[in-house]
Amino acid sequence: MRRIVENYAELPRFVRKPLWRFWHSWIISREKHDVVMTCMNYGFAGLDTERTIDLEPRDESERYGLQMYHRAASWVPLEGKDVLEVGAGRGGGASFLTRYMHPRSYVGLDLSDPGIAFCNQHHQVPNLRFVKGDAEQLPFEDNSFDAVLNVESSRCYPHIMKFFSEVKRVLRPDGAFLLTDMRWSADVPKLREQLRDSGFRIVEEQEIRENVVRALDTDDSRKRALIGQRIPKFLIKAFGEFAGVQGSGRYSSFASGAMEYLSFHLEHAD
Ligand SMILES: C[S@@+](CC[C@H](N)C(=O)[O-])C[C@H]1O[C@@H](n2cnc3c(N)ncnc32)[C@H](O)[C@@H]1O
Repeated sequence: MRRIVENYAELPRFVRKPLWRFWHSWIISREKHDVVMTCMNYGFAGLDTERTIDLEPRDESERYGLQMYHRAASWVPLEGKDVLEVGAGRGGGASFLTRYMHPRSYVGLDLSDPGIAFCNQHHQVPNLRFVKGDAEQLPFEDNSFDAVLNVESSRCYPHIMKFFSEVKRVLRPDGAFLLTDMRWSADVPKLREQLRDSGFRIVEEQEIRENVVRALDTDDSRKRALIGQRIPKFLIKAFGEFAGVQGSGRYSSFASGAMEYLSFHLEHAD
C-alpha cells in the first residue's frame, strides 16, 4: 500500500484516475463532521522565518498549506480577476485566496464528487463556487479566465498535454497560468519542454523544494498526531507516506533533492 501511494504518478494511466478518486473519497469520508484539514499539499515555509504571511486566527492551523497557495498565486494580482483553480481538493486554498485576494470570481474544480460536496458544504464565501470536472476536459468556454491556478495536482494527470491544452483554451489572451507542483528532478527539463510545446512562455519560476522540506519538518508532529487519532492502524504507514512525514519515502525524496518542487508563472507565448 505504501509503495502504491509513493509511486501513484508512475502507475499505468488507466488506473490513476479511478485510484485517485477512491483515495480522496476515502480521505474525505474520514472527516464528515469535524473539519480539521482543508489543504492537502505538502506546505511551504520561509527559510529565514517560517511564517511568510499574516493569517486570521481561524486559518492558523493550516498555515503551511495556505502559504503554499500564497506562493503559487502571488505571482500576479488576483483582485478583480476571474480565477479558475484545477484540482481544488478540499477547498481550503480556494477559500483563502478568495477571502484574502478578492478575485471577482473564483471557481474551484476537482475530479472528486465527495470533494466537491465537502467544499460546497464547508466553504460558503461570496464569489467562490465549486464544480466537478476533469483537468483534461474543462467544462468552460474558451477565454473564460484571467488566471488558472494548479497546486500539487498536475503530476497525477494521465495526459498532462491535454491539461495544458485545456488551460491554454480557457485562459484569456493576457491571462496567467500559475502552476505549482513536484516532479522527479530528472523530469523537470521535460516539464519545461511540455509547457513550451503547449504554447506557454515561462515568465518566472522558483524552486521551492527547501521550503517544502522546512514545512514538512515544522508541521511533522501535528500531522503525526492527526494521523494517529484518525487513521486505522493498518493504514498509518501508507498515510504517513501520503502526508510526507519524516522518515517516509516522500520526505526523503524531497530532502535528498531527488524530487523537486517548482512554482511557475506562465503566459501565452503568442
Ligand atoms: C494533493 S491534492 C491537492 C489539492 C489542493 N490543490 C491542495 O493543495 O490542497 C490533488 C487534487 O487533485 C485532484 N485531481 C486529481 N486528478 C484530477 C483531474 N484529472 N482533474 C481534476 N482534479 C484532479 C484530486 O482529486 C485532489 O483533490
